[in-house]
Amino acid sequence: MQASRRLFLKLLATTAVSRWLLDGVQAAAHKKSSETVVSSERGDLRLALISDLNGPYGSTHYSATVGQGLDLLSQLKPDLVLCAGDMVAGQKISLTDSQLEAMWSSYQSTILNPLLQKGVGVIPTMGNHDASSQRSGSRYVFARERIQAASFWERQKNLLGLQFIDAKDYPFQFSVRRPGLFVVVMDASSASVDRGQQRWLEQALVSESRSPDDCCLVMGHLPLTAVSVGRDRAGECIEDAMHLTDLMQRQRVDLYLSGHHHAWYPGELKGQRVLSLGAMGNGPRRLLGAQHKSDPSLTLLDLFQATKTVRETTFSLKTAEPISPDSLPMQLRSKAFPSLDRRSTHWSYGS
Ligand SMILES: [Fe+2]
Repeated sequence: MQASRRLFLKLLATTAVSRWLLDGVQAAAHKKSSETVVSSERGDLRLALISDLNGPYGSTHYSATVGQGLDLLSQLKPDLVLCAGDMVAGQKISLTDSQLEAMWSSYQSTILNPLLQKGVGVIPTMGNHDASSQRSGSRYVFARERIQAASFWERQKNLLGLQFIDAKDYPFQFSVRRPGLFVVVMDASSASVDRGQQRWLEQALVSESRSPDDCCLVMGHLPLTAVSVGRDRAGECIEDAMHLTDLMQRQRVDLYLSGHHHAWYPGELKGQRVLSLGAMGNGPRRLLGAQHKSDPSLTLLDLFQATKTVRETTFSLKTAEPISPDSLPMQLRSKAFPSLDRRSTHWSYGS
């Protein structure tokens, strides 16, 4: 009895020491990868791209990977954070106004304020869980959610560190500029981006405020074509996207950013450079043709203005390490949507 107790205590001690050692190794690995991140060459402008933070319907909590993403952002010190939507967990008719308010309040205290307090500018985009533009006849199905989102973002407008160019329909569609950067946000919170919005987008892109030296980004929640398994169906990608793709190419858009498919993929669609962002929170998905689910992730864009080049780096929020683009399929194919080719994560911008 005494011998077995001694053996048990010895095993316990060995396990505890092993765990302590393992924790030490893991902590050192995380520290090392963080140091690599911080020491990598910083662009003249550093943008962090995040998307899809929400938990289950009505939730005021964010998952551990969102916390890990915020920690990483603290080390990366971006000038601006661009969020491609799904910041709260709406898109449910039964959610009350006070539940919607509580979700936005949690977003403000957990995500937005910590970034703004560090002097980081924030560009939001409305996702289907924030303020869906889905219609039934002439009415918005989630009209109350759109009113709540508009009210919340109106209160934040002057705190976001942004120079607005066209903000008549902020926060649903608007444009902003910083020296060397021009960003247009459109309302792709449902699959319907109508002709009126496409005309507005074209006008926004020919603005006198846009310089030929600017890197021009367009951001919307839904992508132009299918990226992930389960989202390669009607309603999950923008309808009539070839018209929009042609418009973006005609107006020399350097990159179209989207979320919603919860899988990182730097792609090229009929010559247009696009970027599908991984989810920061729950529900990572499998890329079309891939075996495993994508890691939760965030992407960094470093802009080098003298050479007008961009370096994209995408970090797994499981490991805090960069993910190699070589690990991604060369092409994403789907039956109902145009295929997407993998592209380089180093590219030139401007005309
Ligand atoms: Fe979404």
